[in-house]
Amino acid sequence: QLPKHVVMKEVGPRDGLQNEKTHITTADKIQLVNLLSQTGLNYIEVTSFVHPKWIPQLADAVEVLQAIKRNKDITYAALVPNMRGLERALQAEVDEVSIFMSASESHNQSNINKTIDETFPILEEVVLGAKASKKKVRGYISTVLGCPYEGYIHPDKVLRVTDKLLLMGVTEISLGDTIGVGVPTQVEHLLEELLKRFSANNFAMHFHDTRGTALANIMKSLEMGVTKFDSALGGLGGCPYAKGASGNVATEDLLYLFDEMGIQTGVDRQKILEAALFIEQKLGKAVASKQMAIVRNE
Ligand code: HMG
Ligand code: MG
Repeated sequence: QLPKHVVMKEVGPRDGLQNEKTHITTADKIQLVNLLSQTGLNYIEVTSFVHPKWIPQLADAVEVLQAIKRNKDITYAALVPNMRGLERALQAEVDEVSIFMSASESHNQSNINKTIDETFPILEEVVLGAKASKKKVRGYISTVLGCPYEGYIHPDKVLRVTDKLLLMGVTEISLGDTIGVGVPTQVEHLLEELLKRFSANNFAMHFHDTRGTALANIMKSLEMGVTKFDSALGGLGGCPYAKGASGNVATEDLLYLFDEMGIQTGVDRQKILEAALFIEQKLGKAVASKQMAIVRNE
């Protein structure tokens, strides 16, 4: 039996834009988030407080987060890698902090310049600091189904990082198929292992659609009891420190699936399409989603 209600977490302004070469102005980013705030979404990942040299597109994180028009029913989150990032995020009054690391050693190293074991104490400090400021903390684990350098990743590696992050006090783990290599049988195997020890409520799924398997993987996750899903409008997205990574599953395509299956999200598809059209015009290129292709052909 499939869940009747799911939560969609929009990562477009962060994951969607971080890999885009075309510079989006601060005003346009603010407008994008404001448009998304009118869609019925209750979770928006607005930006990231990483080193601006690593992700130049999001160097204006403080300005964006400070200037958006907030809706009290929406959680405005941002990515934070360390204490310097947390300081900036708190200064900008972030609602929820997202820490991140990888299940694979080599992606962790290329993405955040640390080994996995060096990363834990850094993140623990961030979690303690965020909690002291009464902020919830979400934890991303990247490369859970495959790594651009190491290939297949065994569920034990994901289990180990999950265990550490939950012990630190992270309230939700977002499992990232960073380079979009996973298929439903593998998702089933990973979730079977994780759900022996943790509840489905601890997890959200974060699929990149590099090989067109994201919706199939989401169906499998739903069947396994997961009810929280990350997506990016327009199917934008990708990690510049994971070779071959491309877009997230598109919010409008995922929403079509949920709507037509009668699974409630509270999100208005037409309004998501308007926000996708806005960012498509600013990027000056056709975005990858199926729903936007239909709109363009109408
Ligand atoms: P580092 O160079 O090792 O940092 O980078 P450091 O701690 O050695 O510090 C060096 C200098 O940077 C210092 O300045 C720090 O103050 C400064 P100095 O003393 O030399 O003048 N610094 C900062 N400045 C501003 N904001 C900060 C910050 N931190 C240090 N937060 C670091 C380490 C983690 C910072 C770097 O590797 C980094 O920023 N990495 C981020 C990479 C990234 O954003 N990747 C994409 C996001 S992850 C993703 O997309 C996957 C996900 O979507 C899930 C999935 O799909 O799997 C989440
Ligand atoms: Mg991602």
